[in-house]
Amino acid sequence: MAESWSIWRVKPIDVLLQEKRRTGLSRVLGGIDLVALGIGAIIGTGIFVLTGVAAAQYAGPGLVISFVVSGLAAGLAALVYAELASMIPVAGSAYTYTYASLGEFVAWVVGWNLMLEYMVASGAVAIGWGSYFSDLVASLGFDLPRTVTHAPGAGGIINLPAVLISVLITLLVMRGTRQSARFNKFAVAAKLGVIVLFIVVGARFVNPDNWMPFLPFGVTGIFHGAAIIFFAYIGFDAVATAAEETRRPQRDLPLGIVGSLSIATVLYILVTLVLTGLVPYTALNTASPVASALLAAGVRGAGGIVSLGAIAGITSVLLVMIYAQSRVFFAMARDGLLPPVFTRIHARYKTPYVTVLVTGAVVMLTAGLLPIEMVAQLANIGTLAAFIITSAGVLILRRTRPETPRPFKVPGAPVTPVLAIGFCLYLMFNLPVATWLRFAVWMALGLLLYFLYSYRHSALAPQRPGPGWRAILGSPVAKPARKDGDEDG
Ligand code: ALA
Repeated sequence: MAESWSIWRVKPIDVLLQEKRRTGLSRVLGGIDLVALGIGAIIGTGIFVLTGVAAAQYAGPGLVISFVVSGLAAGLAALVYAELASMIPVAGSAYTYTYASLGEFVAWVVGWNLMLEYMVASGAVAIGWGSYFSDLVASLGFDLPRTVTHAPGAGGIINLPAVLISVLITLLVMRGTRQSARFNKFAVAAKLGVIVLFIVVGARFVNPDNWMPFLPFGVTGIFHGAAIIFFAYIGFDAVATAAEETRRPQRDLPLGIVGSLSIATVLYILVTLVLTGLVPYTALNTASPVASALLAAGVRGAGGIVSLGAIAGITSVLLVMIYAQSRVFFAMARDGLLPPVFTRIHARYKTPYVTVLVTGAVVMLTAGLLPIEMVAQLANIGTLAAFIITSAGVLILRRTRPETPRPFKVPGAPVTPVLAIGFCLYLMFNLPVATWLRFAVWMALGLLLYFLYSYRHSALAPQRPGPGWRAILGSPVAKPARKDGDEDG
């Protein structure tokens, strides 16, 4: 393999495939596990919580169209992921595919964005869990004080329920894949059950007058809404991060990705139709809209059941996201871009426990201290950016590696990946300026870390002291004054 000082150095696919034989992760997951893993990752806080805010503040009943729009963006990206996952079935997902196609620097950017998608999104998911938990506890007669159920920006001090669930799930993921998959199946059954219950019971109480006006915020509201509830689709690609723990990855990864996303899309559209038909859209601005809409429509018993199912369902999202993040960290550390301690595997549980614990700690802080909308939008922008780069990767690999077997091929390429890029970009531009600013800060931090650490410690770097910034950026005519942190130590 060619060692080089270039930031565009590529990790050959053959090396990726060889490496995966040596990881020590156990292969226990089958096709159904992966569809369950996908549904486990996808259906959660997005539909159970953010739908309310998105309908009340951005799209009105037209939110159902927003779901179609962002479903298209996610669906196109899912096809792209399915091709790459079947072609390069190794842990690390989009990060790894990019390393093989667009080179190390872009791979780092993708990996850095995946942290927004999995780790930061987990924070929002845990906050959503906390909302339903507080609601359920309140319905039993125990009102938890706002100071311990809301972040500082939302009128509290810390969101304790969100922190608590983050700790529990982190420990569960650390225990092992088999246990996690078992819990996941139970949670998936529970959430599918309550969603179907909501649709069937709720449909009988729909008042079509509530669908009018259909677009109270105009057509632009549809797209703003789509950019917000894109969050509800995040997660299908987590299936691809389980590649090394899957028995027949080439067949089962595309099945898991496309299957789970299709099921989620149909359910989202039906739930949104019923939800906006149950009560006027202005009444949906609550932290647990699916349950409260049923209550407001007078369906008392079902409201409690839906809350329980939402809690179980959101738990599984958290489980898969923390799982996925730990595997991405693992892959990045194996490539030398993160410290080697991240590659440690627990002797008994056979899980990368260090990466699980680090992920859990960040999720806890995010969930405890930040408001849900801010966190969810940051997760969206990072995910969309990662999807865009990954779609470009498919186009490039079709040219540079036409001979590598692709058990699943994106239909309609190159149009489909180009459409995926277009849709995702459009959604990104519909996110607020504040989100873009936070994203810019996040990316700046990522670049700093890459050039200060990862670039030099990469497994693809030659084994001698690096030429540093100047070799990457070209020799400046006048030598700049030396600053602290200049990487030539
Ligand atoms: N799609 C996931 C959710 O809705 C992140 O919670």
